[in-house]
Amino acid sequence: MNLAEIRARLDRTGQSHLLQFFDRLEGDRQRVLLEQIASLSLEELPLLVETYVKKRPVFTLPKDLAPARYYPVDPACPARPWDRARYRAVGEDLLRRGEVAAFVVAGGQGSRLGFEGPKGCFPAGAVTGKPLFQIFAEGLLATQRRYGRAIPWYIMTSPLNHDATVAFFDKHRHFGLGPKDVMFFPQGVMPSFDMATGKVLLAAPDEVATNPDGHGGSLRALKVSGALADMRHRGVRHLSYFQVDNPLVRVLDPVFIGLHAAAPDSSGEMSSKMIPRTSPEEKVGVFCTVNGKTEVIEYSDLPPDLSAQRLEDGSLRFIAGSIAIHMIGVDFIDKVNSDPAFSLPYHRADKKVPHIDLATGQPVNPEKPNGVKLERFVFDALAFCRASIVLETDRVEEFAPIKNATGVDSVESCSQLQTQRAARWLEYSGVKTPRLPDGKPDAVIEISPLTALEPADLASRADTIRIPAGARISL
Ligand code: UD1
Repeated sequence: MNLAEIRARLDRTGQSHLLQFFDRLEGDRQRVLLEQIASLSLEELPLLVETYVKKRPVFTLPKDLAPARYYPVDPACPARPWDRARYRAVGEDLLRRGEVAAFVVAGGQGSRLGFEGPKGCFPAGAVTGKPLFQIFAEGLLATQRRYGRAIPWYIMTSPLNHDATVAFFDKHRHFGLGPKDVMFFPQGVMPSFDMATGKVLLAAPDEVATNPDGHGGSLRALKVSGALADMRHRGVRHLSYFQVDNPLVRVLDPVFIGLHAAAPDSSGEMSSKMIPRTSPEEKVGVFCTVNGKTEVIEYSDLPPDLSAQRLEDGSLRFIAGSIAIHMIGVDFIDKVNSDPAFSLPYHRADKKVPHIDLATGQPVNPEKPNGVKLERFVFDALAFCRASIVLETDRVEEFAPIKNATGVDSVESCSQLQTQRAARWLEYSGVKTPRLPDGKPDAVIEISPLTALEPADLASRADTIRIPAGARISL
């Protein structure tokens, strides 16, 4: 590593303070710091600082914004009937041929939950307290057994939680999955900036402060890590993308896979699932069309009057909430990685970033946001697709994220939704489920994906299941 060269690059890009404590470091720490600095895209920084740190980017609402079209959850819906059975058959065929893999983005920091360690290790099973990773692994195992094919699982971590994630899987023997079929790779990082000056912060005298570059970084990380090459090698053509916080996700949904691959209005590049938003205030991104193309506008960017617009039947006009479940074509990942014009925008988040005071060399633990983190969002890639479809799903069936310790999207709401879904599936199969006067199930019930991936899987054993009032039952 050439010190003079790095110093010159830092001078040119306004970040020479990163070597402020360099002369006081031991030799090997000097090398580590130089390597870290060299791995950053220093030449990008002046423009990023001007655009995102010194200024606060203003979101401009596109002119021809309209609600996105979608395939309704009920395929018999007169507004847009579609052949669910046909697309399911297409998806099942792709699974049988080993052309689909699962992909979870698990690099986030989970700070809102206050959980130390990778979020996928969080105990999420309503009764068993199974970790999120295990619930997904069981979904994969059940799907592999059903279709008689190994299904690769790509797990994106971040440098902050990579080792702990790998160790967790090792400790639990990959939850029964073949270790060769589970591939971990860390996402990229961005330097964290001082909000007042635009200078990159130092986390320690020998370490630049960085943050994961957002789930949008996954498209590049898939290529850089060799995951993309691995998919090509295995003949995988489509990726089922989901977030680490949602234990109800159907990790590989044949109907969604089939629609993505074969619907006449799908390019097979990137597709999405949505649920109807319950209120204008719900904190989910909203599917819209801009220039006829599907896009997600983050809830914070959609003006309140638009967000609250209603149709004659009282439903929200911008109804389609993003639950961050996508199908992504492997060709599309390849295409964006080889397109020099492909670049996802950054989104700014103001955060408290612990750092070293440059004047005193002392650590600072700020009490209010002092730093700017820049992240990319995967759904911004929708704008780069030739065409993209959206499939409606049901909230109770597929969306119970754990984001907060209490309240909305919490452990408790997730447990209630797991129970509600289980009760629904059991009743569908003819099992009586006790209910309270307000209609809520009078029990806590968890169904492992190994027991049932969908309601029909319970039919053969429905006679043997009893749910007493007040019980805690795991099936
Ligand atoms: C996200 C979506 C929102 C959607 C909601 C559904 C964004 C900006 N918003 O909100 O539109 O309605 O989920 O639940 O994503 N992650 C990484 N690396 C990162 C950052 C995040 O892997 O650098 C992963 C996390 O581990 C997690 C997921 O991305 O699995 C979501 O991240 P989070 O920041 O929690 O997004 P939300 O604000 O909850």
